[in-house]
Amino acid sequence: MIPGGVAVLDFGSQYNQLIARRIREMGVYCELLPGNAPLSDVLGMEPSALILSGGPSSVYGDDSPHPDPAVFDLDLPMLGICYGMQLLALHENGVVEGGHEREYGPARLYNSMSGDLFRGIEPGQQAWMSHGDRVMRVPASYGVIASTDSLPIAAMADPGRKRYGVQFHPEVNHTEFGRQLLRNFVLEIAEAAPEWNMKTFGRRAVEMVRRELAGQGNVILGLSGGVDSSVVAALLHRAVPDRFTPIFIDNGLLRMGERESVVETFRDHFGMPLKVIDGTEDFLGALRGVTDPEQKRKIIGRVFIELFEKAASEIDNVTHLAQGTLYPDVIESVSFRGPSATIKSHHNVGGLPERMDLKLLEPLRELFKDEVRELGMELGLPERMVARHPFPGPGLAVRILGEVNPADLDVLRRVDRIFIDYLLEYGLYDEIWQAFAVLLPVRTVGVMGDERTYDRVIALRAVTSTDGMTADWYRMDPEHLARISSSIVNRVSGVSRVVYDVSTKPPGTIEWE
Ligand code: XMP
Repeated sequence: MIPGGVAVLDFGSQYNQLIARRIREMGVYCELLPGNAPLSDVLGMEPSALILSGGPSSVYGDDSPHPDPAVFDLDLPMLGICYGMQLLALHENGVVEGGHEREYGPARLYNSMSGDLFRGIEPGQQAWMSHGDRVMRVPASYGVIASTDSLPIAAMADPGRKRYGVQFHPEVNHTEFGRQLLRNFVLEIAEAAPEWNMKTFGRRAVEMVRRELAGQGNVILGLSGGVDSSVVAALLHRAVPDRFTPIFIDNGLLRMGERESVVETFRDHFGMPLKVIDGTEDFLGALRGVTDPEQKRKIIGRVFIELFEKAASEIDNVTHLAQGTLYPDVIESVSFRGPSATIKSHHNVGGLPERMDLKLLEPLRELFKDEVRELGMELGLPERMVARHPFPGPGLAVRILGEVNPADLDVLRRVDRIFIDYLLEYGLYDEIWQAFAVLLPVRTVGVMGDERTYDRVIALRAVTSTDGMTADWYRMDPEHLARISSSIVNRVSGVSRVVYDVSTKPPGTIEWE
């Protein structure tokens, strides 16, 4: 909790995380609260402004969410977006009409430039609409400050009380002037101080960790080498270097050179007392003969927990387990919408803290992924490490379709190295959310020299995405594909054919298993 930020009451719009991101981009802390949060929770944030978000409901719906009515009595600048505007209008005795056909898509906005909210915003630009209900008459103290061809009241304002409503979504990129509007509201109207950055957050997080661990025992962390756990490790090492032990379990399903690079960074460079467990035989032994993807995941999760518990039991007086939980996961669990399918449904080690009777330490729970990366740089992690693509917990096991064996792991590791090195060398890596190779359990006929071959197929996948929940295939230049493909078949024996995956998510997933 950081005082002076912006509190967003979340009524369930799919765009709500974007509001928080946009506001944080301007250096102001922003947090989502459930739309019906009690007044005390709102006040607990000591906010400098309040945003009532959009949402899929109608204000007249039987179980549509409403804020604690006392919220409207607060002397705070307020901005209602879409459903939030309708709530504001309804509460202040305006007229909201339901039953309209949903309006969805872009509209030209004719706004007045004389007030604060649209300062610097030329009329006639595009705004993004997504609503069913609409405000038909603004409350007495308000004026209409924007309209569209089909919507007479597209924005309203009561500047004396610093209350505003907009029917469109300023947080999405399709609203051309959206960032400017949010800046006007947050920085000019609410005068929130832009004090949110990763330098101050890092200092504060170190203090918080020290406070939380005061008089407590030691803390451990499952370090995977991925961005989130690496940043947690760097943070804990700075906060409590003598009481922190990261545990790295090599499951034998990692990329080429992964273990060496984790050891080099954390043990050699940072000087952490890194505990490295070689679990290759345990994992590969347990996976022998198993082909079902869910089964593979379960086995890997189980073996991980067994090895982790054993390693932890060798460390004295452990009271805390640190985890790299991020803000999007927190939002999912507090929102009244309830949990929906997210990346974290893949978490393979859920339940670990309860089982081990440890307290959880989640120092990144206020951060978005891009902020975690920035924090990692602040804490001195190598840039290449914080800019890495996500890598699944079950590792290459879900990229070798069917049974996993050492020979196939070797093939896939070599292919993966060629692919990723190429992307890095040609500056493509950072344009891509995630890139990897999949080894298919089929053989196809080929020719090599005068010989007929009957070898394996590799599928290459590269996707763009902002959060992994939806994804598009990366439009890779065919010249690059040609060079990567011939490099693979020439240098990795056993592979004679390369294909490129052009599926989106949905309906596909990013991984193949
Ligand atoms: P999918 O394949 O579901 O993946 O589109 C979305 C994101 O999650 C990663 N992923 C996993 N991460 N354990 C993990 O830790 C898993 O079992 C798992 N499966 C998928 C995937 O790499 C992508 O970033």
